[in-house]
Amino acid sequence: MNLGVNIDHIATIREARGTNYPSVLDAATLAEKAGANSITLHLREDRRHMQDNDLYELKPLLKTKMNLELAPVDEMVKIALDVLPEDVCLVPERREEKTTEGGLDLIKKFNEIRDISNDLTAAGVRVSLFITPDIKQIDKVIEMNVPVIELHTGSYADFTGDLKEKELFKIRQAVQYAKKEGLLVNAGHGLHYENVQNIARIKEIHELNIGHAIVAKALFIGWENAVAEMKKIITEYAKS
Ligand code: PXP
Repeated sequence: MNLGVNIDHIATIREARGTNYPSVLDAATLAEKAGANSITLHLREDRRHMQDNDLYELKPLLKTKMNLELAPVDEMVKIALDVLPEDVCLVPERREEKTTEGGLDLIKKFNEIRDISNDLTAAGVRVSLFITPDIKQIDKVIEMNVPVIELHTGSYADFTGDLKEKELFKIRQAVQYAKKEGLLVNAGHGLHYENVQNIARIKEIHELNIGHAIVAKALFIGWENAVAEMKKIITEYAKS
């Protein structure tokens, strides 16, 4: 199972003071050295963390691949078509949210997201759609001919007790269904060092995208150690 390291919150710290440190380029390079299989970043419409320039500077530097998260809007699609990351993950975005709060609604926005996905695919970018673990949404992904999904694990992370178990069951079912239909399945959001184990046990998942918890852990044990520790947990539990 692969680990995609989301470096948005390295940029959050930089933007808090408008400095040029900490460097997102160093963060990406060191994460790759510590075992990251891809580098994920989200260019938000409000530019609260990543800036346009970061994308252009990171792209030639990455030894693994860039997974760029974007809202499905013209401005962002234009930038993606210029930067040409290996992967684009389309995510819903609301300005007032603290983080990406839900999955895309592919039923409501079918035509819009299908057209954007087709444009990106035609430019050689692999498209992933960020959705909740819901079979109806997966059916729409298949109808759009998009090859990859990322399942939102935020509810699993937030819930406790029975609700957490039910959400985990839904994630497992969604993974099995999507795999059977030939999709590549990633997952992420809200995963940390104590809750990632149950998700990592779902062997059919290709990649977990994790950011906030790794940045937080790095404060105490260092960035490379934090990435390596997460990679170790994922690898161990994916085998068990
Ligand atoms: N995957 C997607 C699609 C996201 O939007 C985010 C948050 O930017 C993540 C994964 C990583 O979430 P977290 O920072 O909670 O690990």
